[in-house]
Amino acid sequence: MRIQFDEVNLYAEMAGDANGLKRAEVKEHAPRALEGLRNFREASDADVYGFTKLPLDAGLAKDILNFAKDVCGSYDTVCLVGIGGSALGAWALDCGLRGPHPTQRPYSAASPRLVVLDNVDPTQVEAALEVMNPKRTLVVVIAKSGATAETVANFLILWEWLERKLGRKASSRVVAVTSPQKGDLAALSAKHGYRTFPVPVNVGGRFSVLSAVGLVPAALIGLDIRKLLKGAAGMTAIAWDASLDNNLPLRSALLHYLIWRLKGKSIQVAFPYSNRLWGMAFWFRQLWAESLGKARTRGGELVNIGQTPIAALGTTDQHSQVQLYMEGPNDKVFTFWAVQKTAKAVRIPKRKPGLEAFDYLCGRTLEELLEAERVSTAAALSENGRPNCTFSLDRVDEEHLGAFLQLLEFQTAFMGELLDINAFDQAGVELGKQFTFGLMGRPGYESFRDRFDAYEKRRKGATL
Ligand code: PA5
Repeated sequence: MRIQFDEVNLYAEMAGDANGLKRAEVKEHAPRALEGLRNFREASDADVYGFTKLPLDAGLAKDILNFAKDVCGSYDTVCLVGIGGSALGAWALDCGLRGPHPTQRPYSAASPRLVVLDNVDPTQVEAALEVMNPKRTLVVVIAKSGATAETVANFLILWEWLERKLGRKASSRVVAVTSPQKGDLAALSAKHGYRTFPVPVNVGGRFSVLSAVGLVPAALIGLDIRKLLKGAAGMTAIAWDASLDNNLPLRSALLHYLIWRLKGKSIQVAFPYSNRLWGMAFWFRQLWAESLGKARTRGGELVNIGQTPIAALGTTDQHSQVQLYMEGPNDKVFTFWAVQKTAKAVRIPKRKPGLEAFDYLCGRTLEELLEAERVSTAAALSENGRPNCTFSLDRVDEEHLGAFLQLLEFQTAFMGELLDINAFDQAGVELGKQFTFGLMGRPGYESFRDRFDAYEKRRKGATL
């Protein structure tokens, strides 16, 4: 497994004094990063945070693989019902390893597809029900809380759909991933006898891709979850290294912290030059936003802090976003994600049509063009004083994706330490959820209904 980090374009020599880092600034803040590492290690050893140990859970991987073997051949579609951290990881893995939609290879019992229902848009759910065959579908419902409104609503629809076609056999087509012995999804699973897998209490949704949350759907669509865990275990060893030169997640966290806090780059553009990494950019967007967007420090000081993550795809978004990135506000750091080796080079035909805009490309490969465009964009941004850096994955396979997921999770945790915030809660999402419960009539949420009505009244008063 080889993942490299090229930080050169973050420095003042490349981005200029106003926008680039000085080596002395990195040196000055290095002790804080190392202290953050020690604190986080201590909390992780005390099991406060569980994602760090997931790659070592060989027993879970074995259980999941045994289950996948038992059901293998009986389905060609895995329908994942979940949202946020309970959906994005599996989607990122599917996009990375079975390939981006809609160009994935045809699905079959030997190579099942993943259909993700992570929204309650009726047109999407209806369309999914139309294209799936209940006799050939395994429904994987994932909710750590066992109570997320979107997941519960979609699952009730899917459950009725299965029962209508399969009767009593429907239970055998459902797998639930949820907190064990707690929550209503666990209760429903016990009632109907669904196969269940646990979400550990100390692993939050957006950090759970290497728990059953990501591993169950991954194994069911035929991915090698042992290799995923192997890559993640390798990165975990790197993340515990006490040297900033060797510890890739700590180093990238520190540099992203400094470029943000010292140079005002309050937006991070995650910029994969790979359609296979596009799903992962969306997974990262949630991880970075929900973990680091916080009102207060751990000590209670009001800071309203956060670095806004944007997902951009190279080269596609060169023709969509780069004008803004080059000439708009200089408030962004660009983190390119590159892939060194693609499975197969695609050659542009050698035959030249005799036209200036065509001939120079003939006989070259798409790989060469993609790489030339990435380094050209990095160069152009640098010339305009826009700091950027690059993660390079040797290839996109299970081992590298496992390692990269774990790298980004550690980087997020270390950034939380540098900011002195709790990167593992998400109090900010509660109020909107409570209003929804109130509006939809969930018992216990009547006061939120009243509060919502008062808001509506204020809106009417504010109407011009
Ligand atoms: O990261 C998180 O904790 C959240 O994004 C959750 O994953 C998301 O809200 C879904 O929660 P649950 O798994 O309880 O349905």
